[in-house]
Amino acid sequence: MNSAPRPVVLSGIQPSGHLTLGNYLGAIKNWLPLYREYDCYYMLVDLHAITVRQDPAALRERCYEFLALYIACGLDPSNNVLFVQSHVGGHARLAWVLNCYTQMGELSRMTQFKDKSQKNADNINAGLFDYPVLMAADILLYDSAQVPVGDDQKQHLELTRDVAIRFNNLYGTPERPVFRVPEPMIPPVGARIMGLQDPTAKMSKSDDAVTNALYLLDPPDIITRKIKRAVTDMDNTVRYAPAEKPGVSNLLSILSATGGESIAALEARFAGQGYGAFKSAVAEAVVECLKPVQARYHEIREDRDELRRILRDGAVRAAVRADATLRRVHDVLGFIPE
Ligand code: TRP
Repeated sequence: MNSAPRPVVLSGIQPSGHLTLGNYLGAIKNWLPLYREYDCYYMLVDLHAITVRQDPAALRERCYEFLALYIACGLDPSNNVLFVQSHVGGHARLAWVLNCYTQMGELSRMTQFKDKSQKNADNINAGLFDYPVLMAADILLYDSAQVPVGDDQKQHLELTRDVAIRFNNLYGTPERPVFRVPEPMIPPVGARIMGLQDPTAKMSKSDDAVTNALYLLDPPDIITRKIKRAVTDMDNTVRYAPAEKPGVSNLLSILSATGGESIAALEARFAGQGYGAFKSAVAEAVVECLKPVQARYHEIREDRDELRRILRDGAVRAAVRADATLRRVHDVLGFIPE
């Protein structure tokens, strides 16, 4: 039987900072079942990372760390293509082509560029400006149908769609478009984990204040301490009301996502109890949730040969699809076939 090709899901993460509970509950965990319906590609975007200065040794170790954590969170390399962006030459090559179909004005409007150039005023390099074009190349190279991204990346995905449509109008036909136009994949509600100290903003892996985030590799005592110190309010009732009680609501989301009980059930369970008992329960649930992840991580983290083998295999599988797209693009542009 000839089965139809499966749609592609692709996402990328910058190997910077440290993976947080928010990355796990808000992203990685939702990706785990996707391989049953989609061809899934998850990459470490090292080419994007160098748009700000990196320490080479730290960058390399972080890539291994993130890969081992992805696997420890349950992303099985035999069902998901896990790879490093710089290992597949097509990303940089397609980015160059797309550069010639993206306007300076479009890139100047990107809010992330404006933010990052303010934060790195001494190094506003062309790569930082061009970052969204490389991201468009990442996505279009794999004919991605769905792209799981956070809110902060929606504008880049919108640009990717614009560039794809523009290119298709120039070189494709409605029946044979050159690029597949991707859709954002929005995480389920409640999966958005906020900071512990500032519960009005997303928990970030690159936050300067380390007490604001729960890192996947934090030991149990650190997790407990951070949760005990998490910002709440003066009202002392465990109730879900994100606008009014962002801190408590975030802790409820975390407890619900890690312990599996609904928010309503948790509100009932903690009715009449203060925040002390509630926070202890949150800490315990997070520690229990991370225990198997950390155990698996430590089993595989030092097996450098195995991690390298997984990345080599991932790059080979990724390149098959990437090369086919690049050939198609070069062909419509009039480049002589290699
Ligand atoms: N820019 C994304 C971020 O900072 C990472 C990324 C790079 C990405 N390439 C991608 C995400 C392709 C989705 C698809 O979070």
